Parts: sequence; structure tokens; C-alpha cells
Amino acid sequence: MRMVDLIEKKRDGYSLLDEEIAYFVKGVTDGSLPDYQISAFLMAVLFRGMNEEETASLTLHMAQSGDLVDLDAIKGIKLDKHSTGGVGDKTSLVLLPLVSACGGVVAKMSGRGLGHTGGTLDKMESVPGTQVIQSEEHFIKQVNDIGLAIIGQSKDVDPADKKLYALRDVTATVESLPLIASSIMSKKIASGADAILLDVKFGSGAFMKTLDDAKSLAHAMVSIGKHLGRDTRAIITDMDEPLGQAIGNSLEVKEAIKTLKGQGPKDLEELVIKAGGLMLTQGRVAKNVEEGEKMIEQAILDGSGYRKLLELFSHQGGDISYLLNPEKFSEAKYAIPVKATHRGYVSKIDCLALGLDAMRLGAGRAVLEDKIDMSAGLYLHKKVGDYVEDGETLLTIYTNKEEVSDIVQNIASSYQISDQKVERAPLIHEVIS
Ligand code: URA
Repeated sequence: MRMVDLIEKKRDGYSLLDEEIAYFVKGVTDGSLPDYQISAFLMAVLFRGMNEEETASLTLHMAQSGDLVDLDAIKGIKLDKHSTGGVGDKTSLVLLPLVSACGGVVAKMSGRGLGHTGGTLDKMESVPGTQVIQSEEHFIKQVNDIGLAIIGQSKDVDPADKKLYALRDVTATVESLPLIASSIMSKKIASGADAILLDVKFGSGAFMKTLDDAKSLAHAMVSIGKHLGRDTRAIITDMDEPLGQAIGNSLEVKEAIKTLKGQGPKDLEELVIKAGGLMLTQGRVAKNVEEGEKMIEQAILDGSGYRKLLELFSHQGGDISYLLNPEKFSEAKYAIPVKATHRGYVSKIDCLALGLDAMRLGAGRAVLEDKIDMSAGLYLHKKVGDYVEDGETLLTIYTNKEEVSDIVQNIASSYQISDQKVERAPLIHEVIS
């Protein structure tokens, strides 16, 4: 087989055979294919696309390019959840303890935050002592012992994706549906779960900017899961404004605790109830989504989800006195209120701008090597649809940095205020099963 022939075949719009895709992924992984041929192939895929069989085949070969996590030693249906990323997205920290408290078996491998989006592992590390890097043995034992573990993915999982993503990033080939879908799903397949819930976000703070693109990505990923025998469902959710009120690591952990105690923001609660209903159905703990949703509501009411969060952190070395007394989290040196300059209804929040501002304040990383300031971030007192008086606080900036005057000056312009009453857009748009 010659790579040039595969490039030509895809360039001319033909479908590739499984063995041809296997040849490509092997050459990417063992370094035998030069970057220029890989890049040319990626560009051909970007223009010509891939059918469902090709995309599933690419996903499987990518997943098999490195370590495959074997979760057979865990009893029950192993559940995983993945978000395509957003601003203030602390869903996993609320949802997964609730699902586990209801009897679901949750084995999640997670990622770090980059750019304007945060990552679950970073949020977890804001609780002192928490170890997110764990051996596979510890991971399996913890899931068997308490029904829940959230750890970082091993470096040896899916090396083909690392190489392909790095090349896509510099060859303008990130925005290809089959390449995005196979990149996300290959890591999930390699992580070994039986059932996967995908939270595919759309809007200014999300990777997919439009509802249609999010739907197409969700359909592509659900189809991959189906081809590869994993129960995969997707929930399409709005990320045109941040989720909840807190953005930034320890601020988000505090909000997760409040939500588990039934005192959280309504949008986050709505999302965890719907997603939890779906996951409990996937785990065959609930007969249907409605029954699952009721179980999640009960786990919020009776505090069992919160107690599961404490168990999760104590099994991963975290000092749970911070979760029991959230005021123990160290506060940023500066808390700067940003006020409205006229009254009216909040009609739009620039979610991407706030995510980038939070990153610049120290809450996120511009490059993977950056160090995070756990106490930095933003707290939104007003969200879309809320009424605000002239001079009322829209949001508070938390930072330890001295030089933030440009952010302070510009941040109010991330809010649009209208004289007319504004309806908030629905958070959950569709479920794809
Ligand atoms: N996230 C991934 O893991 N891969 C992509 O290609 C895009 C987003």
C-alpha cells in the first residue's frame, strides 16, 4: 500500500477501506509516514468528509494505537461522560456523584482545561491533596469500592490522536466533523467504558458555534458509538452564556457543593437532572429517563450525592475539610465588583470573552504548561433575562494579579443590557439516542 494512493483516493471523493485506514493510523503512530503526507490526507478528509463506516474505522484504529484501558474487573455497566467544553462547566463534579449515589457505576477519565474552557481535573485539584493521576489498578479498585472515580487519562492512551491533533492545529484541518468526532470518541473508546453520555455544547463559549454544527457532531459521535458497540447518547446544550454563576476552579467547586445541597443555580441543576436521568437509564439503574430524573432529584434532596462527592475526594487524597467548610478555600487577594452603567434586562453575555478573561486572571491556561491560580475567576451575579439597576453589580472579578486594569475596564462590555424584557434561551435543546 502507498500513502500517496490513499491521499489521491480521498482527494477524489472515494471511500476508504478499513485496511487502508488501519495503514494510515499505523503510519501516523509508528512515525513511518511523513508529516506532509499525513497533512495532505487530513486536508483531503476536511474537503471530502468520511462516511459513517470510515469514521468508525478511523476511531477504532486510533483508539487501538496505544493503551486500551481494560475495565472488565469492574462489576456492572461502566458509565462515562464527556463534555465538548465550555465556560463555568462544572457539571461532572455534580452529576457524577449523583449518578453514583443512585447506583450507577462511574469510571471517568478526564482532561485538563485549555484556553477559555476549564477542565474537571484542574477543578478537582483546587481541593488540597487531591490526586487525579492514579494507576489503572487504583482506578479499578476505587470504582469497585465506591462506584465512582475521576482521574486523568494516561499519557499512553491514543498516541495517534496526539500526533493528528498537533498536525491539524497547524494545517487548518481542525474543523472537520469526522476528524473531531473520531478524536473525541477514540479517547473515550480507549478509556474502556460501556456507555458514554456526551454533552455537546454550542454557542459563543463552545467549540461548536451553532446548534446545527453541534447536532451534526453529536450525530456523528453517537453513530461511532453505535458502530463500536457502546451505548452512546448525546445531549445538546446551550453555551451562549456561562453555566451557573462561577467561573474558575475553587469558585466552581464551591458552586458544585451548593448544587449538590440543592442550593445551586437553576441551569446547572436542570442539566444534571436531565443528564443524570439519561446516565441512569444507560446504566440500567432506571427503567426510563423520567424515573432516572426523579432518582437524581431525590439524591440532591437527601444529600446522598453530596456525601458521594466527599467519598470521591477522600478516596483520591483530597482534604475534605474544604468540602465540609468551603470558606476554607483561600480567597483571591482582590475581589473587584463590575457594575452596570444603566438599568434594564441582561440580553446577552459574551461567553467566550468571559472565559478568556477568567483565563487571563489566572483561572486557566493559554498553553498546557501554564500554572493555574485556583482562587482566580469570575462570579456572575446577573445572567441573561435578569433585571439590573444602574450601578448594580453584574459580576465580581477574583484575582491575585496586580495588572488587570484592562480586563476590569473592558469586562462590563461583555454584558448587553436592553430596555425590553428578555427570555432566556432553553438550556437543553435535544437528546440524541
Ligand atoms: N476535542 C478533541 O478532543 N478533539 C478535537 O478534534 C476537538 C475537540
